[in-house]
Amino acid sequence: MRMTRTLALALAVALLAGSTLAQQITLRAADNQPATYPTVLGLMAMAEYLEAASDGRIVMEVFPGGQLGDERSTIEQVQLGVIDIVRTSTSPVGEFYPAMGVYSMPFIFRDEAHMWKVVQGPIGKELLDGLRAADMVGLAYYDSGSRNFYTATTPIRSVADLQGLRIRTQQSQVVLDMMDALGADPVPLAFGEVYSALQTGVIDGAENNYPSYGPGGVRHYEVAPYFTENAHARVPEIVMISASTYDRLSAEDRALVREAALASVPVQAALWAALVAESREAVVEAGSEIITVDIAEFQDAMAPVYEKYADEYGDLLQRILDTE
Ligand code: GCU
Repeated sequence: MRMTRTLALALAVALLAGSTLAQQITLRAADNQPATYPTVLGLMAMAEYLEAASDGRIVMEVFPGGQLGDERSTIEQVQLGVIDIVRTSTSPVGEFYPAMGVYSMPFIFRDEAHMWKVVQGPIGKELLDGLRAADMVGLAYYDSGSRNFYTATTPIRSVADLQGLRIRTQQSQVVLDMMDALGADPVPLAFGEVYSALQTGVIDGAENNYPSYGPGGVRHYEVAPYFTENAHARVPEIVMISASTYDRLSAEDRALVREAALASVPVQAALWAALVAESREAVVEAGSEIITVDIAEFQDAMAPVYEKYADEYGDLLQRILDTE
């Protein structure tokens, strides 16, 4: 079939427009922490890297403070390709891709070094890649330290003190089971609702790391002055991209996005380490009571959680525990 000149011209214009469009890429990224929090600054470092490495062709806009929705909703939006990138705790991701829930198991990591060894080794990679099953691609992990209990009026000095207390949990079955094992009454709530729930007494307490609790984070210390250093979990953060966005990128741009995410990891980690120490000091200064406990007692109480998940995580659980 012969094309008329007008049709050929129209086609050429459309192709040209298409290729220009394909070159300019804008990615939207969500985070539920405040704008100066280490995870958000990590995403900003990723954005700078991408923009510089692509000569301004790839722009990544970062929306902090839960502007694009709470964690669960932003994960869903990333699955659907409505949001391109999200930084979230791995806990709620376990509800979309069960294997990811393994990181929320109580006392699964001996310490910070063990956590990094696992997430930056073959297991970490397996789980990043496994997210494909949930229409997402895992790019990198960020640090989130250890999680600890804090309460508004009843200090927690032992497992017995948790009996019947209403403790906010992340939207994660593993975390719910952990609270049950401790005898607490778990109340799953979005992160953004925790401050007012503590303030109004809807919940008795919550659990998180020092930076989230302190003035560099969402300031729960203002409404829950008893902080118990029991370090029951060490749940890493994750940066994920929508599989539909990822698949639309050229092979070269996919590599750039991966590179940029990895380049932001040491930036986030350095800011994180500084903020942990700073936050602890600041909350003590503000009057929080820091409580130390017999951690072995908390560990022993978690045995039923390991029994419940032994089959589901099986080999994965053991491989993490065995990582030296
Ligand atoms: C951490 C994490 C948040 C998460 C929060 C939570 O603070 O950085 O992204 O929402 O835990 O307990 O929900």
